[in-house]
Amino acid sequence: MLRDRFGRSIEYLRLSVTDRCDLRCSYCIPKGFRGFEEPEHWLTFDEIERLLAAFVRLGTTRIRMTGGEPLLRRDLPLLAGRLSALPGLRDLSLSTNATQLARHAVALKAAGVGRINVSLDSLDRACMEKITGRDSLAPILDGLRAGKAAGFAPIKINMVAMRGVNEDQIDDMVAFCIEQQFILRLIEAMPMGSTGRDTGFLDLAPIQARLQRKFGLVPQALELGGGPARYMATPDGRSSIGFITPMSQHFCASCNRVRLAVDGTLYLCLGQEEKYEFRPLLRGGASDAELEAAIRAAIELKPQQHDFREQPGKIIRFMAQTGG
Ligand code: GTP
Ligand code: 5AD
Ligand code: SF4
Repeated sequence: MLRDRFGRSIEYLRLSVTDRCDLRCSYCIPKGFRGFEEPEHWLTFDEIERLLAAFVRLGTTRIRMTGGEPLLRRDLPLLAGRLSALPGLRDLSLSTNATQLARHAVALKAAGVGRINVSLDSLDRACMEKITGRDSLAPILDGLRAGKAAGFAPIKINMVAMRGVNEDQIDDMVAFCIEQQFILRLIEAMPMGSTGRDTGFLDLAPIQARLQRKFGLVPQALELGGGPARYMATPDGRSSIGFITPMSQHFCASCNRVRLAVDGTLYLCLGQEEKYEFRPLLRGGASDAELEAAIRAAIELKPQQHDFREQPGKIIRFMAQTGG
């Protein structure tokens, strides 16, 4: 088992398979951004499989494929099939913007992807265009339908709630997700890079209290994944809503994850600079034992917590570069 200096068990690896994206969400990538990673620096599927096999041997039980937009990486279902076959892995999941999910949902399911989380910040077409920089609502809704039809259940919806941007649409999203049997998660925006656009911070504590009263929500102890969301259920127990509050009430004390970027950099925390470069090892002929030793050394570097609140301008890399 991998344990960090603070006694946390690190069992969840988030794998960014590309830093590119077909959208430009206001909290994630600036419009006109050109600084993407060179293709020759992308870990190949062979390199990813070899490195992640080493993580799994050391006790990683969950892998989530993210990006950028992971479905932009060609042949992602092939990679998914190789990862889901790693002995000891019990959870392979995907975080996607769903614009291309309609084409890939069936292949992903067949490849062993168990769970899908989809980013969707509004049900209003114009608002989505403003947030994502593209007329994206229709393809995302198509993707969601296809995901459901392929048997992914329940799909989680990630909504970054922003003051003055989409906060007036929270209740519509709650109703939509209850009706569609999706699990809505409301997320506080973190200051990652400066995208130059409006990501008005919204404290979710009062929103949670209001939704609790309006929908009669009750706290839920269920484990609905491996992430930091805290869940509440509707009174009939059929639907859940999650709250992800990295800013107002952070969850670093129970952090169980690290992030591998597409270029082989392992980031030990979303909100800190500590990192470990695996590409030179993978391309320099390191043995499996050396990879395992490097993983243990990297985990030692994991910091205690982010300080987004104390130092909001500190992290200059964008979310899509770290892996969302
Ligand atoms: P589940 O396994 O389904 O619970 O997934 P998850 O919630 O871990 O994954 P997802 O990709 O859907 O992430 C949802 C959001 O949680 C992200 O957008 C981040 O805002 C936030 N988040 C996830 N991991 C971390 C983390 O390690 N630190 C912080 N500060 N926020 C995180
Ligand atoms: N703050 C909080 N969440 C973010 N995401 C992307 N950028 C940010 C940010 N700055 C979320 C998206 C996506 C998830 C993987 O990351 O909503 O669903
Ligand atoms: Fe793309 Fe996701 Fe970032 Fe939006 S949040 S720009 S969909 S990677």
